[in-house]
Amino acid sequence: MAVDMHSFAKPEDVVVNHLSLDLNVDFKLQKISGSAILKLNRVSNASVVFLDTKALKIFKVTDSKGTPLKFELEKEVPFLGQALKISLQPNTREIIVIYETTAGSSALQWLSPAQTLGGKHGFLFTQGQAILSRTWIPLQDSPGIRFTWDAKIHVPTEMMAVMSGTNPTAKNAKGDYSFKMNKAVPAYLIALAVGDLEFKELGPRTGVYAEPSMLGKAVYEFGDLENMLSSAEALYGKYLWDRYDVIVLPPSFPFGGMENPMLTFATPTIIAGDRSLTSLVAHELAHSWSGNLVTNKTWDDFWLNEGFTVYFERRIMESLYGKDYAAMLAVLGYQDLIETIADLGDTSEDTHLKLKLEGRDPDDGMNDIAYEKGCLLLLQIEKMKGREAFDQFINNYFNYFAFSSITTEDFLSYIEKELQLTAEEIKVLKRWIYAPGIPKDLPAPQSSLFIAVNNTLTKFVSGNLTANELNVQSWSTHEWLQFIRSIPDNISLTNLKDLDDTFKFTNSENSEIRFAWLMKSIPAGYLNADTSLDEFLSRVGRRKFVLPLFKMMLKVPRLETHASELYTKTRDGYHAVTVQSLDELFNKK
Ligand code: BES
Ligand code: ZN
Repeated sequence: MAVDMHSFAKPEDVVVNHLSLDLNVDFKLQKISGSAILKLNRVSNASVVFLDTKALKIFKVTDSKGTPLKFELEKEVPFLGQALKISLQPNTREIIVIYETTAGSSALQWLSPAQTLGGKHGFLFTQGQAILSRTWIPLQDSPGIRFTWDAKIHVPTEMMAVMSGTNPTAKNAKGDYSFKMNKAVPAYLIALAVGDLEFKELGPRTGVYAEPSMLGKAVYEFGDLENMLSSAEALYGKYLWDRYDVIVLPPSFPFGGMENPMLTFATPTIIAGDRSLTSLVAHELAHSWSGNLVTNKTWDDFWLNEGFTVYFERRIMESLYGKDYAAMLAVLGYQDLIETIADLGDTSEDTHLKLKLEGRDPDDGMNDIAYEKGCLLLLQIEKMKGREAFDQFINNYFNYFAFSSITTEDFLSYIEKELQLTAEEIKVLKRWIYAPGIPKDLPAPQSSLFIAVNNTLTKFVSGNLTANELNVQSWSTHEWLQFIRSIPDNISLTNLKDLDDTFKFTNSENSEIRFAWLMKSIPAGYLNADTSLDEFLSRVGRRKFVLPLFKMMLKVPRLETHASELYTKTRDGYHAVTVQSLDELFNKK
């Protein structure tokens, strides 16, 4: 049995199979307090249960009758927090923990009114993955342990609460909300958001939550959501979570998206006005199968979540928008992978799909390897066995392992049998999983649309055409991204200015285009983008943007001091996840 090195829980003794929360959200004191009732399945005759906690204050633990149980918070372990050791009576089947969060509860981000669009009310959201749920709930925080849950949450009356379960669609006068998740889920998939929210339906099973002034834009952006859901089902089987809604969070949300069951959490930076960044929603939706239905058992198996999800995401995009569209996504993803491997070193163990995260923060292993190398492995199998057979396999895989958590080795032994892999084929798979870099047996993804983009760029760079003579009328966001990413390092400032004057990259409303452009402007010394850079970093907390931009600034003598000064100002506005990565960046120097 695989042991999760990132949890104090001992599921061989006791497994929590249901959690009931009763919590009050206090914006003035910036804390959540109340009770967590945990129903226990006593697997062995052990007389203690270990829960995961980090930065929690534990006031009291009792059994269901209110009889106090002896408890102890053990010594703090780096990254993991403190084990909460609770003594049980032989017949104890339920424990009640009275607790509250602290300023160190890093799952939580409390936003001031100024950090929201409305500007009148605060906002709170949580981020559980990978091991942050233990910073707001005492529980068994391991992806290998699943339980059902329900919650009662009290919030200020001007706000609405939503969770990764059944949700309200309107505020109520008392600020009391109740939630249910009847399917067994791992702890990292429990999430809460509280703010001045409104809901709008998109289709029979889909809808969107956002601050009122964002709602209309979000409704337009996600206009294809119901179709995405049907396309996903047509590929890999029935959607088993009833509804699929998306909440658009304030811009400090540290990720692009998070696949919280029934309610994906999303960054507002995908609201581009033209639906061009919605593959991110396809990604989070795909996790409803790969990740939420079939879950990585430990964080070493993270690629099972993300690799399958990237593959699935691109299949959804292909079925909705065609092969050319999906091919562009694949090429851009491949470029990210090449860069990540160059960063880590092509012999680094961190480039294996199966990770070794023991003794480390699992967050450190969560890069493009799991996503893009994982997806490439699946493309390799698709190529070996044919798409039809592989699609059938994936359907069976989701069915067979539904609502369970598995290791890479479980996957391997299953696929060996299901697809009757030859010894040679098994060797190929193992090379992807247990060896570094990218095996050579698969050609790099190609996009014919990008070949046209590259040709256009060449004409511009060689001086044959000016920016306004370029034939770009039909270009989508992805073609622009390819164009900007491919701009050579030695491009002249005059050329950059010509591009910017013509295409307005510096102030693009499209966050991906703006980011790609800023990444070129910084090393090129294109000063016209400086104000835009500062504004972007002051408003947006999405780590995928913020970290590379600061890294790039630190490489440029002109911006080195400015980067540190700017970070001192912007740090307070970022979620703890982003802060942790940036603190490392600035101290490491
Ligand atoms: N589950 C991840 C986000 C995550 C990973 C949070 C690891 C914490 C630890 C989510 O599904 C994801 O992959 N988000 C990506 C977007 C996606 C389109 C690649 C992101 O946030 O950028
Ligand atoms: Zn993902």
